[in-house]
Amino acid sequence: MSLYLVGGVVRDLLLRRENWDLDLTLEGDGIAFARLVADRYGAGLAVFERFATARLVLPNRLKIDIASTRRESYVKPAALPDVAAASLQEDLYRRDFTINAMAIQLNPATFGELHDPYGGQRDLKAKTIRVLHGGSFFDDPTRIFRAIRFTQRFGFSLEPSTRGLLEEAAATNLIQQLSGPRLCNEIFLLLGERDPRKPIKRLAFLRLLRFLHPRLRYTNKGERIVAVLPRALAWWKKQCPDHGVERPLVYLMAILSKAGPAVLRSVTQRLQLSSLQSKAVEWAGRRTDRLVQVLEQTKDMRPAQVYRLLADLPDDALVLLVAKGLAMRKVGGGHRLTRRLSRFLKHDRLATTILRGEDLKRLGLEPGPQFKTILDRLLDARLNGRVRTESDERAFVHRVAQKPG
Ligand code: CTP
Repeated sequence: MSLYLVGGVVRDLLLRRENWDLDLTLEGDGIAFARLVADRYGAGLAVFERFATARLVLPNRLKIDIASTRRESYVKPAALPDVAAASLQEDLYRRDFTINAMAIQLNPATFGELHDPYGGQRDLKAKTIRVLHGGSFFDDPTRIFRAIRFTQRFGFSLEPSTRGLLEEAAATNLIQQLSGPRLCNEIFLLLGERDPRKPIKRLAFLRLLRFLHPRLRYTNKGERIVAVLPRALAWWKKQCPDHGVERPLVYLMAILSKAGPAVLRSVTQRLQLSSLQSKAVEWAGRRTDRLVQVLEQTKDMRPAQVYRLLADLPDDALVLLVAKGLAMRKVGGGHRLTRRLSRFLKHDRLATTILRGEDLKRLGLEPGPQFKTILDRLLDARLNGRVRTESDERAFVHRVAQKPG
């Protein structure tokens, strides 16, 4: 049997880029081979019969995907393909771009031999993304996003007829037929690239945002926020290293900067976002704009008032606010907003009272809903600098308990 390393990892080997997504393909029964390897090396094994593929997880946690060389036929465009055994050459032909259609043989006698029947090396040198045949984007419209992604990641260009085919496919409704999770996966992969600003422009230029919502436009305002998002994310990482955010989600929220609640809801449903992601997206549009307005325009605000406005925001929404502040700075505003956000994120967000519910009981107070009110007021007093020590807090609680409300 002939065994090959295939696809993205071969491309990346030739580009000398690290890639541990190892895809193997076998001229023969890939699943049977995977079982043998799993036995020999004590690896975990998952088999996906429908696609004739298997995944090995080796004891050192390295994952290897194994398939049989195959041809794919698409019953209808954008559907998942039917597969049948085929030669390596045919297997490579069904792939998206020439640079991803190369294989390296792994059998000991021919170890390291490169199979490149469609000019993958030539296109890597020429920094070109080229499809293998005219039906490629129609077979699988996720390739539209992949093409944009690879041009960005490697600084490559679309070969002219590939560009024509891509634009033709983008103008149809094929992408509409992708399931929510598949569309979401592609969009998040694109927005997860190191700098997705150009790809977002491309999406907008190709009018692909209509597949998120027909009325969605990439406005100048959205673009201004996306432009400063890398800075906002870098700032966040420095200030809040323990609070990771989902970068692609924040970019999506920035694109949705002007959307109203109905559009936000529909995008959430289309992409089948998780409930946490959906909660963050709810803050994307005008809702954060209202916060921006209050935080920028209200002259006198105590730190506790700022805290109460921001305390419930998910991290992703806070990053978006930071970006909105930075975008305003570019046009001479945003100073108050940035100052207040900065104070909240650096200090107040993590503030807690010294006394807890247990302590209130020990002070002789009757447990009940008023505990939350008292502790909230205590926290506000701490944020506003009216209490500092534990005895300050005790005195404050006594005062509040005597005249509730
Ligand atoms: N592939 C394809 N068409 C697709 C998806 C994948 O032809 N829509 C093929 C390509 O040969 C690709 C390989 O399957 O190289 C592996 O796919 P995947 O792991 O998704 O992509 P990579 O090329 O490895 O890209 P990345 O580096 O972004 O993971």
